[in-house]
Amino acid sequence: MKGVHRKEARAGRRLTLRIFRHVPCVPENQPRIDTFPLDETPGMTLFLALTRIREEQDPALNFDCVCRAGVCGSCGMVINGRPGLACRTLTADLPETITLFPLPWFELMADLSVDTGQWMRGLTERLEAWVHLAEEPSLDAQETPMEPELAEQIYELDRCIECGCCIAACGTAMMHKDFVGAVGLLKMARLRLDPRDVRSDAEYYDVVGDAGGVFGCMTFLGCQDVCPKGLPLQTQIAFLRRQMVHHSFNP
Ligand code: SF4
Ligand code: SF4
Ligand code: FES
Repeated sequence: MKGVHRKEARAGRRLTLRIFRHVPCVPENQPRIDTFPLDETPGMTLFLALTRIREEQDPALNFDCVCRAGVCGSCGMVINGRPGLACRTLTADLPETITLFPLPWFELMADLSVDTGQWMRGLTERLEAWVHLAEEPSLDAQETPMEPELAEQIYELDRCIECGCCIAACGTAMMHKDFVGAVGLLKMARLRLDPRDVRSDAEYYDVVGDAGGVFGCMTFLGCQDVCPKGLPLQTQIAFLRRQMVHHSFNP
């Protein structure tokens, strides 16, 4: 109830949105900040605010939003200095001046739109982040049962939406371009749990047992602070690191 009162009390504010603008594929286009005034409405999300600015003030404004429900992972951006999802951020939770930048690290497409997909695909290919089965799957074979508790644990980690917020909040990723980030380590921790994945400890070590993997992480946990899905990144990184340390002493 408290939150509802706070949001109602704040409705009617005049917001100022300061938005990074740059379209790198246009040679003469220089990076700049544009400022847009906007009347706040009750329950307004940043996605709605940006849509209204695009409809009413600047049709050339670029940003990504697909599902509007925190599921597709496309609307990640830096909101007053903190990576987050535009569709899950209420303007009522922000001050009257809101500054938006695109997520760092990923290729900038235009304004607030970055290409996380290309990076995530490269990550998946590099880590071979899929279940390595003992034999080719057959569509005629019966499903293999899995303990519900284990299935639940795997499902929990599968909730990652590849939004890139954890990478944008990660000091190591900013300094070390080969670092796989919390999203990469989470993918491997999820596969490590899966009994169908036949890769050995040595094979896991080969892909994440170096400074680009678990040993590069400085455990400052910016990733966990900003993950919009509330994924247990700290626990999973520690889990994977323990396993890789164990392997390095017992190869
Ligand atoms: S781990 Fe969280 S922050 Fe990182 S990509 Fe997945 S959902 Fe986004
Ligand atoms: S805990 Fe590791 S992965 Fe997470 S932000 Fe820090 S260095 Fe990056
Ligand atoms: S629009 Fe899909 S997560 Fe925000």
